[in-house]
Amino acid sequence: MEAIVAVYSDWGIGAEGTQPIVVPEDRRRFAELTRGATLIVGSKTLRDFPESQPLKGRRNLVMTRQDEEIPGAEIVHTPEQAMELCRGERTFVVGGATVYMAMFPYLDKIYVTKINAAPACDAYFPNLDSLPDWEMTDSEAFRSDGVPCEFCVYEKK
Ligand SMILES: NC(=O)c1ccc[n+]([C@@H]2O[C@H](COP(=O)([O-])OP(=O)(O)OC[C@H]3O[C@@H](n4cnc5c(N)ncnc54)[C@H](OP(=O)(O)O)[C@@H]3O)[C@@H](O)[C@H]2O)c1
Repeated sequence: MEAIVAVYSDWGIGAEGTQPIVVPEDRRRFAELTRGATLIVGSKTLRDFPESQPLKGRRNLVMTRQDEEIPGAEIVHTPEQAMELCRGERTFVVGGATVYMAMFPYLDKIYVTKINAAPACDAYFPNLDSLPDWEMTDSEAFRSDGVPCEFCVYEKK
């Protein structure tokens, strides 16, 4: 199970339900990597998608404790149910903070875009550089409109 996330310098990922700084290169990488895959997304992050709709060209599993139907998506109520439904499919956990944490025990590879900026955040991702069972296996630095950024891949040891 893989995850994809964009983090700021303090591993903040969001504020007030959205990403305060968005980097177009990260959006492109997200689109390329997840095309045709299955996504596991929290109900709050779904609200931040364009028109609050599931992403096209991907199977969307929305994690929620509610029972409402969401056109274009399948509802899952637990991490175990999500795991069962995506068995055998390339699957990305795409957030937000609560869903990353709920699925964290199942992750073995995480695509991280580091954005060297520190906007105020209220949602965070675990600092993978401080976790001994995770290692960075690939990185590529770039600048987005002058802001230093880095595409990184972390894998569980
Ligand atoms: N930087 C990035 O790459 C990135 C990516 C994604 C999101 N984000 C940011 O993350 C923030 C949102 O994160 P968030 O933690 O507030 O919301 P979230 O994870 O998107 O959604 C939380 C909701 O998911 C459901 N949920 C979570 N864990 C569950 C579980 N174990 N079982 C059943 N349902 C569960 C609940 O839905 P119900 O309330 O419907 O029951 C919960 O309220 C936003 O700021 C967003 O912009 C950043």
